[in-house]
Amino acid sequence: MQMQSSCSPPRPKSPPMARSGIIPSSLGDGLVFTAGAFLALLIFLGLYSFLSPTPIPNRLFSFSPSFSSTSSHIDDTSDPPDETFYDDPTLTYTIDKPISNWDEKRRHWLKLHPSFSGGRERILMVSGSQPYPCRSYHGDHLLLRSLKNKADYCRLHGIQLFYNTALLNPSMNFFWAKIPVIHATMLAHPEADWIWWVDSDAIFTDMEFSLPIDQYRAHNLVLHGWPELVYKKKSWCSLNAGVFLIRNCQWSFDFMDEWASMGPQSPDYEKWGKTQTSTFKDKMFPNSDDQSGLVYLILTGKGGWRDKIYLENEYYFQGYFAEIVGRLENITARYIEEERQGPTVLRRRHAERVFLSYAKEMNVQLGRQKGADTGPTGWRRPFVTHFTGCQPCSGDRNKVYSADNCTVGMYKALNFADDQVLRIYGFRHASLVSVDVQPLPFDYPRSGG
Ligand SMILES: *[C@@H]1O[C@H](CO)[C@@H](O)[C@H](O)[C@H]1NC(C)=O
Ligand SMILES: *[C@@H]1O[C@H](CO)[C@@H](O)[C@H](O)[C@H]1NC(C)=O
Repeated sequence: MQMQSSCSPPRPKSPPMARSGIIPSSLGDGLVFTAGAFLALLIFLGLYSFLSPTPIPNRLFSFSPSFSSTSSHIDDTSDPPDETFYDDPTLTYTIDKPISNWDEKRRHWLKLHPSFSGGRERILMVSGSQPYPCRSYHGDHLLLRSLKNKADYCRLHGIQLFYNTALLNPSMNFFWAKIPVIHATMLAHPEADWIWWVDSDAIFTDMEFSLPIDQYRAHNLVLHGWPELVYKKKSWCSLNAGVFLIRNCQWSFDFMDEWASMGPQSPDYEKWGKTQTSTFKDKMFPNSDDQSGLVYLILTGKGGWRDKIYLENEYYFQGYFAEIVGRLENITARYIEEERQGPTVLRRRHAERVFLSYAKEMNVQLGRQKGADTGPTGWRRPFVTHFTGCQPCSGDRNKVYSADNCTVGMYKALNFADDQVLRIYGFRHASLVSVDVQPLPFDYPRSGG
């Protein structure tokens, strides 16, 4: 359930857009598009474009821990007998029948389950992979490690995870498969305010980072992307549809109905393939895909969805692996230096359950340092490293990547993340490519290591 084709993000040679929606009026201000940027995009599709945005000062980061689902006040041991949407025999979990009045239905359910409402917005992570074994030699192991990585992130942040391996709508395969899953998940989790879809080949590489969820209050869909590339470049790579937040509300059901109408189960599938390839000159394959569909809806304003869609690019909501993997060793060294030089609290051993309080300390420390920026030139850990085009399960990777680029790259990112977890358990990997681990001495890294 990953992207079939690789799509390296063309990087605008301009500062990231201010936090805002993606209405076209936000275009223009201070956006400098060089001919070089266009050319690079055309020539290096699938390659690292070398066009880097201005580094983002880390003071933009406000530390905001995600909602903790572990609060003891939640009553999950009883379900009142009052009728809810679950008792309506006409409501289906499949996408062939639209859901209506969802906001009201959900509100009613929450009223009957008051311990689930109030407090911070609740996030439920959803990911998945195919129902059968991987064809590539490393595939199943890489998927297992990637699932472990998500389980780790979720445990540390009090987020629940649903990992799905069933194709809920057999004609909606590949990247389309997530839509029926998210649809069913929204019904199964009325307590969740947001569904966070994360492709199986996207890896959390900063365990300490929490989503700035409050900043998305006015929006219903959050993706990594660049408005100027949507509107000016009309590129199908102007956003990435492999990681996104979608609000559990009626808007999202309606939106997904329209989005899915471009999918393989729709009679208009072929027509949409043609529309997409003629709209996006950089789209190299004929079939309608979810990402192009999304860019199309934003670009054309069709359906009026775009006002509620937020394109994030101030941190690696998801980051292109080729831009990240080569820097992981240096980032590791830089963090170790920070821990060595910084206050004792950064080296203090602690229980996993209080991890977030130490993440906060580290965030403060990074805020004092020059260059601790997110993005291609900063040394802050990238939040999510996405191996788009690598197809670890089928092994059918984009030919611009070598097997090592993808496989070794993934193992490195996984170890990089795992070291942040193992640290809590008193160990770390001997290196980013090693399966061996070493115990950490007291007061590490000031002592030993
Ligand atoms: C793939 O690996 C080669 C050799 O290490 C490296 O030169 C190249 O930059 C890598 N490509 C990507 C896209 O990471
Ligand atoms: C890593 O750091 C070394 C030493 O500072 C530097 O020479 C090298 O260019 C850095 N590598 C990357 C990929 O940034």
